[in-house]
Amino acid sequence: MPEIATIVGARPQFIKCAPVSRKLRKYFNEIIIHTGQHYDKNMSESFFRELSIPEPDYNLGVGSANHGEQTAKMLIAIEKILIDLKPDIVLIYGDTNSTIASALAASKLHIPVAHVEAGLRSFNRKMPEEINRIVSDKLSKYLFVPTQTAVNNLSKEGQTDGVYNVGDVMFDSFLFNLNQIKADEVLKKFQLDSNEFILVTIHRPQNTDNPTILKTLISTLENLNELILLPIHPRTRNLMRKFNIAVNSNNLKLIEPVLYQEMIVLEKHARAIITDSGGVQKEAFFARVPCLVIRGETEWVELVENGWAHLIGNNFELIPKKLRGLRSFDYNQDEVFGDGNASGKIAEILKTDFL
Ligand code: UD1
Ligand code: UDP
Repeated sequence: MPEIATIVGARPQFIKCAPVSRKLRKYFNEIIIHTGQHYDKNMSESFFRELSIPEPDYNLGVGSANHGEQTAKMLIAIEKILIDLKPDIVLIYGDTNSTIASALAASKLHIPVAHVEAGLRSFNRKMPEEINRIVSDKLSKYLFVPTQTAVNNLSKEGQTDGVYNVGDVMFDSFLFNLNQIKADEVLKKFQLDSNEFILVTIHRPQNTDNPTILKTLISTLENLNELILLPIHPRTRNLMRKFNIAVNSNNLKLIEPVLYQEMIVLEKHARAIITDSGGVQKEAFFARVPCLVIRGETEWVELVENGWAHLIGNNFELIPKKLRGLRSFDYNQDEVFGDGNASGKIAEILKTDFL
């Protein structure tokens, strides 16, 4: 069997690789390399168990650091393993530092790179992810894109070879997992009633790294007259501690990061979602729940163009009014994010070339 090295490191990459790995293993010997970018049990190991992703064959234990140091440590460790393994192909996901380090290491060793979730652009180069996307796409031979917008973005940059619009692997994950868990048990666990709470996630540096901005965001949530559930990302938790930001209101419930299946149930039963996460804003749409995106722009432009999500940047004072105006929406358009079988298509395309 040909050998494929899958390299992941951060929470959304575990969620993305699960359905692809299931399909690929029919045709490929898959080696999983975990960079160790995320390492808390509830940011990493729990997802491997929950989503039945095989144990990583390697864990590089890189951990947290500034961008240069973190990416450099990954590059050094990944290169060593790839020299040893000589896989036929390297498979990477999304736009994190684990993605760019893998693309650099593999392409310099002349190993073809396949990039899942290629072609996305926010056109904001202050986001580290935008740099990671551009470089990783340029170095990839297979560009598995989730949307027509991503095809167009690559085409404008002169990249048309190797581009496959397979749909979004996160949609595969969402559909596969939603029926694997009992919604009423999740709501009971978190003591929630369906449609009676707002789900929030926050982890982008532009919302977390400036104490005034983070403080304003948290106090805006505290002052909303609704129950707010906030599974807190460790970046945000650590910075709240550092900036001495405490929660002083009963309506804002901070909880540890939750499992993926719990998360999608919470999304489905929330009255609305407020997030700066790429994955969560899309899942809000999959769940047909209205969403406020606390960013100035998004790479998932379809969500905004079609009125399914609303960009509010860090104009947090708009949140109460926007929340009052939100309505659930009907959806009867073609499959913007594919048909739920992006993973199967990826496996078939790679199989055709390597078997
Ligand atoms: C990273 C990705 C981002 C992605 C996000 C998903 C980059 C540049 N950023 O951001 O694109 O949306 O993951 O969640 O790759 N920390 C812990 N425990 C952990 C992991 C992180 O405490 O297991 C804390 C550390 O203080 C660390 C901080 O979170 O410094 C940030 O972690 P890092 O992986 O550098 O970036 P994220 O903000 O998680
Ligand atoms: N997620 C989760 N538990 C949580 C918060 C998020 O399982 O407590 C999932 C969420 O459903 C989505 C993914 O993590 O599938 C998004 O990851 P994140 O927001 O960390 O990164 P981004 O998508 O912004 O890169």
